[in-house]
Amino acid sequence: MKAIRLEGQNKVALREIEDPKPSQGEVLVRVEAAGICRTELHLISGRLPAPTPLTLGHEIVGRVMNETDEFKEGERVVVYYYAGCGKCKYCSSGRENLCPSPRAQYGFITDGGLANYVKVRTTSLVKAPDELEPSSLAPVGCAVTTALHASKKAGIKKGELALVYGLGGVGFPLIQVLLNSGLRVIAVSRNDEKLKLAREMGAEPINSKEDIRRKVRSLGEVDVFFDLVGDGLSQAVKVLGRASRVVYVGYEGKVDIDPLILVSREISLITSVGCTKNELVEAIELVKAGRVKVPTQTIKIEEALQTMDKLKEGNVLGRAVMIPN
Ligand SMILES: NC(=O)c1ccc[n+]([C@@H]2O[C@H](COP(=O)([O-])OP(=O)(O)OC[C@H]3O[C@@H](n4cnc5c(N)ncnc54)[C@H](OP(=O)(O)O)[C@@H]3O)[C@@H](O)[C@H]2O)c1
Ligand SMILES: [Zn+2]
Ligand SMILES: [Zn+2]
Repeated sequence: MKAIRLEGQNKVALREIEDPKPSQGEVLVRVEAAGICRTELHLISGRLPAPTPLTLGHEIVGRVMNETDEFKEGERVVVYYYAGCGKCKYCSSGRENLCPSPRAQYGFITDGGLANYVKVRTTSLVKAPDELEPSSLAPVGCAVTTALHASKKAGIKKGELALVYGLGGVGFPLIQVLLNSGLRVIAVSRNDEKLKLAREMGAEPINSKEDIRRKVRSLGEVDVFFDLVGDGLSQAVKVLGRASRVVYVGYEGKVDIDPLILVSREISLITSVGCTKNELVEAIELVKAGRVKVPTQTIKIEEALQTMDKLKEGNVLGRAVMIPN
């Protein structure tokens, strides 16, 4: 089969490899679609350590190839990209995303779905509806669930003013999750095409080249600042109100600030990683109900590497999703 293989730092290639062979407790999944997350770039650059060789791709929707007690042959599933140890205090409380010794993490430490097939533990499979296009379901695996988890970590409340900084795969579903929960949303981006889309969703767009502080002031004080890049804190403190929160999802930057600026306004720094399996179930329902729609562009596996270069430049509108041939 074809697979996008990480072979070392800054070494990634399209390869022909053997089809995976599932062991006890695993099934073979035929990939119908797999999204390309910005996290692939961090795995490639070495910012996130990964064992190599490794098939990338953690946003996976596909069909179960072999019948199990729980899944029928041909049934559609989305992969929960964590498989926790099942024993630690995090797994015991449904937070496999925090498990320090996971059995698998698809696309991170275990072969992922930028390929024709992926083998997955049955415990990491969640049933998904047949009626949706695979390309609209793939981003649920990370983009939508990341947005949902971050919104929960932020403790969002109806009527609050949120700012989404960085409009990509995670940013667009986050805008929708926040609007659905009754927040007002400001979207900040460098790209006018993305801002147009954010406005159509119901957000107030601001180009990062403009005077953000002045523009935000006309709307009020920001209660929650979602940093989907990682370098937004200096901007955030200019617009945040009392008892506000900065939520880190992205990590391309440094946290460097005088703590007094935070303390004097009781600004909290919150971080968010991945999602729980229950949140994946919830995210699938949101997409099924049409309450969250990620803008997507479909590509062939042969275009994946070139698409990663486009992503690096910020030139992908929403999520690029690979459809295997
Ligand atoms: N914590 C988690 O669990 C988790 C999960 C998924 C992803 N992530 C991370 O969260 C971040 C967002 O992920 P994503 O998949 O939404 O990425 P993405 O699709 O590439 O979107 C990120 C957006 O940030 C904006 N941006 C502004 N300044 C940037 C800069 N200096 N460098 C890069 N981008 C910049 C770009 O949009 P504009 O053109 O609007 O500026 C870009 O489209 C990534 O760092 C990713 O690794 C974290
Ligand atoms: Zn991701
Ligand atoms: Zn665990």
